[in-house]
Amino acid sequence: MEKASLILVTGGSGMVGQALLGRLRGGGFENIVAPSSKQLDLRDQGATHRFFEQQPVDYVFHLAGHIGGIGASVTYPVEFLYENMMIAMHVIHAARTAGTRKLIFLGSSCVYPRECKQPMAEDDVLTGPFEPTNEGYAIAKIGAMKLAEYSNQQYGTNFLNLMPCNLYGYGDHFEPAKSHVVSALIYKFDKAKREREPSVEIWGTGTTRRELLFVEDLVDAMLHFMDHVDAKDVGSFVNIGLGEDLSIRELALTIKDIVGYTGELRFDATKPDGMPRKLMDISRAAKLGWKPKIGFEQGLRLTYDWYLANVIAKKGAA
Ligand SMILES: NC(=O)c1ccc[n+]([C@@H]2O[C@H](COP(=O)([O-])OP(=O)(O)OC[C@H]3O[C@@H](n4cnc5c(N)ncnc54)[C@H](OP(=O)(O)O)[C@@H]3O)[C@@H](O)[C@H]2O)c1
Repeated sequence: MEKASLILVTGGSGMVGQALLGRLRGGGFENIVAPSSKQLDLRDQGATHRFFEQQPVDYVFHLAGHIGGIGASVTYPVEFLYENMMIAMHVIHAARTAGTRKLIFLGSSCVYPRECKQPMAEDDVLTGPFEPTNEGYAIAKIGAMKLAEYSNQQYGTNFLNLMPCNLYGYGDHFEPAKSHVVSALIYKFDKAKREREPSVEIWGTGTTRRELLFVEDLVDAMLHFMDHVDAKDVGSFVNIGLGEDLSIRELALTIKDIVGYTGELRFDATKPDGMPRKLMDISRAAKLGWKPKIGFEQGLRLTYDWYLANVIAKKGAA
């Protein structure tokens, strides 16, 4: 990307969007548009096309979507399928008709089958049924990924699909209704410590394994692929992950230690576990020149420090 390029970041207020915008602005890119959902509702096809017709967008980072943890995706499957499908279809189609030079779409490791062999390589996608708790989200991600892939085949666009594993880090959603596993555990342990609760309840059996990537590592990946890799070299999509995982029990114990909580852990096995394991094979990304840098322990400490400075301190000051 050139410094004068017009860059569109959808989902700029989200966890990934904030981290990306911080890095782009810090790198001297000033010609950036990052409309909120109120300014441009991407579910509105007409408005999305008009937006692209009115300004010559060179590069798109498409991050916007309806996102949430397992509880939300089980309760609101309609929104997870419909909104994500509409938003992604409109952006990718409008970018193609407007002649956007390059686009990055973020999928998710949820696209892999529930019983996928581990680690999951790109060719394993669509080889079996999805995990039921995130089926709608996965189908929307597959639809979008295929539209980008077909646009490349049929119209010669340069649209790249990156499939990140579970993410965490600065700017995550810590409030229970919108949190993911790391932010939910940080919130619970921190609250239990402050309120001297004797135990913390954790959803599921604790045996499920998860791969977690620090959000700044994903930003590195997006910038690397935008600047140095073309769709023809990626194929259908590329996994972006840490390449190692840990059980929810191990994750909970690590966060408990970082927070300094001394009570008990109680696992509620009546709550759904989701996919038993989701570890990505990241060798394709490595061959294309990207590797993660921040391990679990370091990333979790950075996230908790950020939470104390930006969420807890602000609550205290309010
Ligand atoms: N977080 C993860 O663990 C994870 C893992 C794998 C992949 N991903 C993917 O990474 C991307 C970014 O995730 P995130 O965690 O940063 O999400 P997030 O924090 O939940 O942010 C979602 C963003 O989408 C925007 N948005 C929602 N509906 C919209 C609409 N109708 N029109 C325009 N914008 C809309 C929101 O804008 P407003 O605030 O203005 O409403 C917000 O900026 C998503 O595509 C997600 O699927 C995330």
